[in-house]
Amino acid sequence: MAKMWAGRTSGETDSIADELNSSIGTDCRMYRQDIEGSRAHAAMLGKQGIILHEEAEELREGLKGILEDLESGTLDFDMSCEDIHMFVEQELTARLGDVGKKLHTARSRNDQVALDLRMYLRDEAAEIMKLIRELLEVLTRVAEENMKAVMPGYTHLQRAQPILFSHQILAYAMMLLRDAGRITDCVKRMNVSPIGSCALAGTTYDTDREFEAAELGFDSIAMNSIDGVSDRDFCLEMMSALSILMMHLSRFSEEIVLWSSWEFKFIELSDSYTTGSSIMPQKKNPDMAELIRGKTGRVYGDLMGLLTTFKGLPLAYNKDMQEDKQAVFDAVDTAELCLKVMIPMTGTMKVLPANMMKAAQSGFINATDLADYLVKKGMPFRSAYKISGQIVADCIEKGLVLETYPLESYRGWSELFEEDVYEDIGIVTCVEKRISKGGTSSVSVQEQIAWIGQQIKTVFG
Ligand code: ARG
Repeated sequence: MAKMWAGRTSGETDSIADELNSSIGTDCRMYRQDIEGSRAHAAMLGKQGIILHEEAEELREGLKGILEDLESGTLDFDMSCEDIHMFVEQELTARLGDVGKKLHTARSRNDQVALDLRMYLRDEAAEIMKLIRELLEVLTRVAEENMKAVMPGYTHLQRAQPILFSHQILAYAMMLLRDAGRITDCVKRMNVSPIGSCALAGTTYDTDREFEAAELGFDSIAMNSIDGVSDRDFCLEMMSALSILMMHLSRFSEEIVLWSSWEFKFIELSDSYTTGSSIMPQKKNPDMAELIRGKTGRVYGDLMGLLTTFKGLPLAYNKDMQEDKQAVFDAVDTAELCLKVMIPMTGTMKVLPANMMKAAQSGFINATDLADYLVKKGMPFRSAYKISGQIVADCIEKGLVLETYPLESYRGWSELFEEDVYEDIGIVTCVEKRISKGGTSSVSVQEQIAWIGQQIKTVFG
């Protein structure tokens, strides 16, 4: 069948060329945005007297009918159409006759696709924000419910200092708050309407771009029509924000994988988010966490792919740009799916504080506090650091820990040691003494929980 754009050429393309050229398989998911955009366009054409009022109404009704039929399943996409825009216009003309052919006045598919994609991503951004909020609320709840759990904090994956498990969990909440901030920020720049840019140079018709933008909920219009049709920064920004979000989910997933191993056993995942092995009967594998970690690479790939597609593209629209949607949709779908699993997986994991405490008591993670004890008694920190290190070495040789090291042995290193040393190096004391803002004591962690609650209100409204 000849293309709708047949004219200068016969419109008879090779079927294999059609396969390369076609995007309806991907962009059909923007049908709602495409139809809403076209309804606003028809209203603008009618208001401006570019077409008759009755014609505008007929177009709007016709478009509404197509939307209803698509949603109810009585109308299917015609996959032989080049893209969603052609499909809707073809269907409209089939229903309305010549009036249908008036819709595409004072616009081009170039500004139309830019409009649809902005509207689509705006909706998805709202969905992702909702999911981030849910995850933030789950993290805060898990932190609140486990305020007594003490675990080793790690640096270099070596036991470093004792911390509250809640403190570590809230570190992820901080990351998610920044993710939400980035998405909010990106939506501000996304919410600018390109429609009316037309092919690239604007139009000779007396259009009202502000009216059309306002009808569709945009804050403003693109002020340069060439940029209006060429800009995909909003996709790249969104994908960058999603890449960072995925990086955070991936780091958390890595901890979940580690913590649910026999070596750590700090948590146990619910059966709903683990799998068994087909050969090893004892296995309970954290596949979901591994997949979230794995899919992070995929979202990075989507971002890198689109950045590469746009590198060196001359102005204005080029068909290369049709590649944007697959990448953006994949990044959005992947991030949403991962969040949807992360929320209940985190919310249902069992925290095992006894195992955390056991690990915290056997790694000399109170050695800093031993040094601080001597400092408080008047010794310079460097000397205290050295003696504490020597005591750790002596403990290791004798099979002891700082809590079981005898007072006479301590006093062999320094006369400053007294009975109260044991109180100062108690694991819980070590945690509770860290009352600095943002620190690990329960007072500081409670303050963080309250702060996050406030931030959630500010960011999400
Ligand atoms: N399917 C195209 C895309 O997704 C729509 C714009 C086509 N414009 C054009 N001049 N061929 O980018």
